[in-house]
Amino acid sequence: MLDRERITAQLNSSRFVQGLIFGDYTDSTNSQVREMALHGATGEVTMIVERQTAGRGRRGRAFASPEGGLYLSTLIHPTEPVNPGLITCRAAVAGARAIESLCNLKIDIKWVNDLFVNRRKVAGILAEGVLSPTGQLTAVVVGIGINVAGNLPAELESIATTLAQEGATLSREDLAAAFLNEWEAVQTNQDFMDEYRRRNLVLGKEVTVVQGDRVYTATAVSITDSGHLVVDTADGQRELTSGEVSLRL
Ligand code: BTN
Repeated sequence: MLDRERITAQLNSSRFVQGLIFGDYTDSTNSQVREMALHGATGEVTMIVERQTAGRGRRGRAFASPEGGLYLSTLIHPTEPVNPGLITCRAAVAGARAIESLCNLKIDIKWVNDLFVNRRKVAGILAEGVLSPTGQLTAVVVGIGINVAGNLPAELESIATTLAQEGATLSREDLAAAFLNEWEAVQTNQDFMDEYRRRNLVLGKEVTVVQGDRVYTATAVSITDSGHLVVDTADGQRELTSGEVSLRL
């Protein structure tokens, strides 16, 4: 079982302590935290579990969540209109910093929400808005899944890895605390986009853009301050938002 005390003892502020929920397993921490928000949770809620039975990724995909990983979702209540894509960028930077603070691996980001190590995916982020019955954005659930250790499904072997497989042995509690500390820090720091761009694997590369039924190749040229990806295509430049597309490197 995850040791609550080991996490809370390392938090830089008491902000997350009261709303920390631990579990052995659940379907999806994002789904659970979202339910809480829909039922009126207004404070800080952070759920951490040891495995998920129905972990979710972007665009309706499953996120493999075997024992040994860290699966964490936290809730924010924006006071002004937010761009969910930028929240994802913030969380990606926080996740990359947290992992690097505990081991010697270099963490790259693949636009928009994937963390990579040695060219394989090691973590993913899913930010989801919670809407009121009148369509107002009342909260955002930000979930991160990090493959710390454990056995990933065989079919992911060529594209995903764990920190342990890459030679880093680290405690999930230390990683959870490091993520929450970095997540808190990145909320107040507006300068995270340069780091997001610097860590990105896609810039200057040819990528395959999957947009509904359309699939085309393009060259990724820049990432705007709003977190959009600018690509050069045969028909000129296009600006892609995270909701629209997925990318293959
Ligand atoms: C992706 O790879 O597309 C995003 C993966 C996000 C996974 C995390 S694990 C914690 C939280 N709960 C979920 O069901 N998804 C996110």
